[in-house]
Amino acid sequence: MNRNDASQAPKTPATFHVKSFGCQMNVYDGERMAEMLGARGMTPAEGAEADLVILNTCHIREKAVDRVYSDIGRMTRDDGTRPMIAVAGCVAQAEGSEISRRAKTVDIVVGPQAYHRLPDLIEKAGRGEEAVDTDMPAASKFAALPGRTKQARPTAFLTIMEGCDKFCTYCVVPYTRGAEISRSWTAILDEAKALVDGGVKEITLLGQNVNAWTGDDDRGRAQGMDGLVRELAKIEALHRIRYTTSHPNDMSDGLIAAHGEIDKLMPFLHLPVQSGNDRILKAMNRSHDVSSYLRIIERVRAARPDIAVSGDFIVGFPGETDAEFEDTLKIVEQVRYAQCYSFKYSPRPGTPAADMDGQIPAEVMDDRLARLQAVINRHQVDFNTATVGRRADILLERKGRYPGQLIGKTPWLQSVHVTAPELSIGDMLEVDIVSAGPNSLAGEPSRRKAA
Ligand code: 5AD
Ligand code: SF4
Repeated sequence: MNRNDASQAPKTPATFHVKSFGCQMNVYDGERMAEMLGARGMTPAEGAEADLVILNTCHIREKAVDRVYSDIGRMTRDDGTRPMIAVAGCVAQAEGSEISRRAKTVDIVVGPQAYHRLPDLIEKAGRGEEAVDTDMPAASKFAALPGRTKQARPTAFLTIMEGCDKFCTYCVVPYTRGAEISRSWTAILDEAKALVDGGVKEITLLGQNVNAWTGDDDRGRAQGMDGLVRELAKIEALHRIRYTTSHPNDMSDGLIAAHGEIDKLMPFLHLPVQSGNDRILKAMNRSHDVSSYLRIIERVRAARPDIAVSGDFIVGFPGETDAEFEDTLKIVEQVRYAQCYSFKYSPRPGTPAADMDGQIPAEVMDDRLARLQAVINRHQVDFNTATVGRRADILLERKGRYPGQLIGKTPWLQSVHVTAPELSIGDMLEVDIVSAGPNSLAGEPSRRKAA
């Protein structure tokens, strides 16, 4: 590593700032890093003013990677000094020491399975030594991290499994996050209880393929996600459970049934399909087809009729014809998603699709994405409008722009603005939904308070 200008960075950082990009798993990892550094006496600070800046990066699309490098470039302060810079997350895993060759001011490179070793890496970097750790150690990082501290927010993420074994041909995740590994039943329950003891009311269970979670319970019986959710629902002060992201092939009968049986399991399912065309799904190595996906949606809706379904789509996968893209519009019309994420295909180095024939020109992708998003947005407005006149419990999560205004989420994950000066963040409130926009709703407290 070129350490030429390391003298401009602090040797023993006392303050830190973590900036997470990309998915919720990164947000979770960023919080665990902050808690670990906090437990060692470091204090949080803002942006490049901090002695140590950790960029917790995402490698999923090229744009996300470019953002990291432009951020690194902006770290040097007016007086020529700069923070110690750590690149963590999936770019760190994928590119390793290549990063510090490309960006000379990077002091530390640490992968998503190795960040429990950050304190050692900080010391090394302070001594001017190369500090790169992209190991995927057999022992879990979780055991080496300090317990969860009191949370500032009433909602929290909890990673229950990592990695992905599916190898969709466009995706870097199996390479950057490694094989699917489930955390243990006890570790998850202990962490959930600690979060709830710290004031958390809603937990979102996380994994790249969260519904592939398996493990043995405390009596040695094999359990899946539904068993885990059932056990978590027994934690009295925990009001809401969510999970994301799921793969259609891991949508077990038990988990589908759980949606109709467990009140605390929120009626929201993020179930990406990626394309509405069977030939493309095959080329993507998705191992499900359009009809098996639609059948799952049908069964989930039978179990929980009001469930909000969300999805991910990629347009312009190599070889995608106009007609094949039209099939994606068709499946969107059939499912009528409450919300969706949609992306232009981005070739990722090392993935099979990056070398496939028939890469689609940027203008074609732009056009397809715009057409898809127009349909998705229309459905999102329809979904929100359909909740007007309904009564819903919301969990108040943050302050609004106006005095006395608070913003909470419905069970279907919509944001609701409500004026309730006597209430606080973390309270549950029953509201009547009075109006809807594309991205949020307005509510009024209903006369009786929610339990
Ligand atoms: N290009 C575009 N989108 C991608 N995704 C994953 N890999 C790529 C890629 N190479 C999308 C998928 C996935 C979401 C997290 O990101 O839709 O579900
Ligand atoms: Fe990537 Fe497919 Fe795994 Fe999702 S299921 S993380 S899209 S390889």
